[in-house]
Amino acid sequence: MQYGYFNDDLREYVITTPRTPLPWINYLGNRDFFSLISNTAGGYSFYKDAKLRRLTRYRYNACPPDQNGRYYYIKDGSCIWNPGWQPTQTELDRYTCRHGLGYTVISGEKNGVSAELTCFVPLNDPCEVNRLVLENRSAEIKDLDIFSLVEFCLWNAVDDATNFQRNYNTGEVEVDGSAIYHITEYRERRNHYAVFAVNTAIEGFDTSRDAFCGPYRGFSSPETVCNGCSKNSIAHGWAPVGSHHIRLHLQPGEKRSLLFVLAYIENPLEEKWEAPGVIAKIRAKELLARYREDQQAEFAFAELHNYWSGLLNRFSVCTGDEKLDRMVNVWNQYQCMVTFNLSRSASYFESGTGRGMGFRDSCQDLLGFVHLVPSRARQRILDIAATQFEDGSAYHQYQPLTKKGNSDIGSGFNDDPLWLIACVSAYLRETGDFSILQENVPFQNDEKKVRPLLEHLRRSFDFTVSRKGPHGLPLIGRADWNDCLNLNCFSTEPGESFQTCSNMESRKAESVFIAGMFVKYGGEYADLCDWLGDTAEAARARAEIEKVRTATETSGWDGEWFLRAYDAFGKPVGSRTCEEGQIYIEPQGMCVMAGIGVENGLADKALNSVMERLETPYGVMLLQPAYTCYHAELGEITSYPPGYKENASIFCHNNPWISCAEAVLGHGERAFHIYRLTCPAYVEAFSEIHRTEPYVYSQTVAGSDAKTFGEAKNSWLTGSAAWNFVNISQYILGIRPGLEGLEIDPCIPRWMKGFTVHRVYRGANYYITVDNTAGVEKGVAAMKVNGRPVAGNRVLLENARSEYNVEVIMG
Ligand code: GLC
Ligand code: GLC
Repeated sequence: MQYGYFNDDLREYVITTPRTPLPWINYLGNRDFFSLISNTAGGYSFYKDAKLRRLTRYRYNACPPDQNGRYYYIKDGSCIWNPGWQPTQTELDRYTCRHGLGYTVISGEKNGVSAELTCFVPLNDPCEVNRLVLENRSAEIKDLDIFSLVEFCLWNAVDDATNFQRNYNTGEVEVDGSAIYHITEYRERRNHYAVFAVNTAIEGFDTSRDAFCGPYRGFSSPETVCNGCSKNSIAHGWAPVGSHHIRLHLQPGEKRSLLFVLAYIENPLEEKWEAPGVIAKIRAKELLARYREDQQAEFAFAELHNYWSGLLNRFSVCTGDEKLDRMVNVWNQYQCMVTFNLSRSASYFESGTGRGMGFRDSCQDLLGFVHLVPSRARQRILDIAATQFEDGSAYHQYQPLTKKGNSDIGSGFNDDPLWLIACVSAYLRETGDFSILQENVPFQNDEKKVRPLLEHLRRSFDFTVSRKGPHGLPLIGRADWNDCLNLNCFSTEPGESFQTCSNMESRKAESVFIAGMFVKYGGEYADLCDWLGDTAEAARARAEIEKVRTATETSGWDGEWFLRAYDAFGKPVGSRTCEEGQIYIEPQGMCVMAGIGVENGLADKALNSVMERLETPYGVMLLQPAYTCYHAELGEITSYPPGYKENASIFCHNNPWISCAEAVLGHGERAFHIYRLTCPAYVEAFSEIHRTEPYVYSQTVAGSDAKTFGEAKNSWLTGSAAWNFVNISQYILGIRPGLEGLEIDPCIPRWMKGFTVHRVYRGANYYITVDNTAGVEKGVAAMKVNGRPVAGNRVLLENARSEYNVEVIMG
């Protein structure tokens, strides 16, 4: 069952009922100011940091769900409704929500009045613009009372939700005409405030939640709205809100547009006040003046539109499969940008108050957006690398506001260093900007310990070289990619973090997954050294890689598939000799992607085992059989009920590894089949089972052991976005950036008789046509570049050429 449809021309997802299985959200904002917005106008806004600069309050885990947003109430006689249905839940005559690229339009109609609410964050101002257009479509005159509502958060979202002995006292506002200023703590150490304003004169306002709602009432039937009259309340402590009251008299056919703006304003310390006790408003007024007229808002909206078109024009495909095309051209790349902006901070599953930027997460996210915003990717790499330790290990997380490593969690996740190689390598292949390798980057954010980025990569590589266990495989440390496989943790204390507690430094627990990563990304490091002319270092690296490859093919092989690990006692994990957790997805994907076992048939066997034991109609499960009870020697993975999260769910992040691995073996049918299983546009058809948004990937889908098999959770902020884009663009469509230019190496299903790609690469436009009349799965039989036949499948760079026409014949 579907709850909406894709509009490919407008690049929108159109939701046709407010009763989606879960709130289906979108993101507004590109740089500093961000908002989350659901299909019923729920959500919240923040400036840069969802924990420390939260503008509006949101109730996570609320019942009914999705409480608080930017709400507009329309009182038409005795009928009170909202264009997005919430919070009154008054039945609408018509409803749609259109989620687009950086904007959302919610339209509702009731008793002959239509209301269209367009929400977006402009490119260049820290604010959310809400344009509300009301139209009288009836034959009578309509006298309408419009009430706006936002509830302010007292900046620090954790404190706001916990420290009531203080924050019931601190709330303060100032009202000036149609502008409501939220100024809590501005009197003391803050130099920022929020303003919520409308571009018209108001009948009244409210800033006290208690006054607005009335005693014992909530946002679904606020007293102010029911009475049709604001109370002009001023909040002193308790809960400040912003609500405007506007009266409209609409003739039949008449339309009115109102522009509401919620903005974040910062003042220099010496310019905080315009008079004693009166906040300085100049900057706020300047900003508001930029959104006073409809044309100004339209202009800002058009700018936003052009920005997104520009970004998405960098890679587009035409295959004739509309689901595939819309995922590649729009939604997958859009999700990659959102994960770039927000990492894992704020979604409807991530409260915005938890972990900052993950080291491995950010490195992997970069694989999906480096082609979109290369210069911002460059800065991101330098920020990430600066949180590395001198021994090559890395802070597992860092704070976006300070860019400092987070010492609560520290380091010890032994896959982290190799992800740095992965992302730098991707950046170099994309941009050819080798100058980044000479950038001086601190270790541990300490300006006194500065070395070129290339040296950081060497230390990443050597971190693994110098930390191997009894089988010659890399030590796992606290965990590798699978945060929940904690082989040295042995936690028995409820509530203790599985990631940071560790009561055994076994120096025995080894990871076959890291082995695969080392062969793959170590190999990219070696290629880079060669490219730079350091053949000695390349040879040294390759010798180390060979050792790990051999160890993987012998000690890391279980007979029909790759083992997952050895535990702290040297016992295999992910082996047929185990009672549960006999086969894991991660090493099968990563080892084959690294080329391990490709020559000698191990890779084929491993992927066949995946197909037999892990594949379901909803994707490939993380492991089988699921763990049915807690094992202290394996850690958090066994804390989840069977079929959920790391304990045998379908993790959408590593499904593409299997698809990529199939492509490495030339299995185009299988690669595409696996790709489709978790791909949102294909999953749309059974949204009632999947439940999360059908336009973005979720982190997990419940596995076959779960009672809710097929149900997804944790949508939006997941490495699934980047990896699926890498998979489809580089492995399946096979447009792969290399150190010396683009390589074209498609691996597609036989029925796909060809496709075209337009890609911007190193400043030039590439128009690529792939002809698969032959109906093969892989293989380039002939290739022409700018009309001239070339040997092989690489497009070599030519100086000053701005356009490449590439014709590829598969066969
Ligand atoms: C989450 C984490 C990621 C980890 C994965 C598997 O997605 O953000 O870092 O690799 O879970 O545990
Ligand atoms: C929990 C989650 C895992 C995530 C980790 C991040 O373990 O299950 O997915 O990676 O937290 O700290």
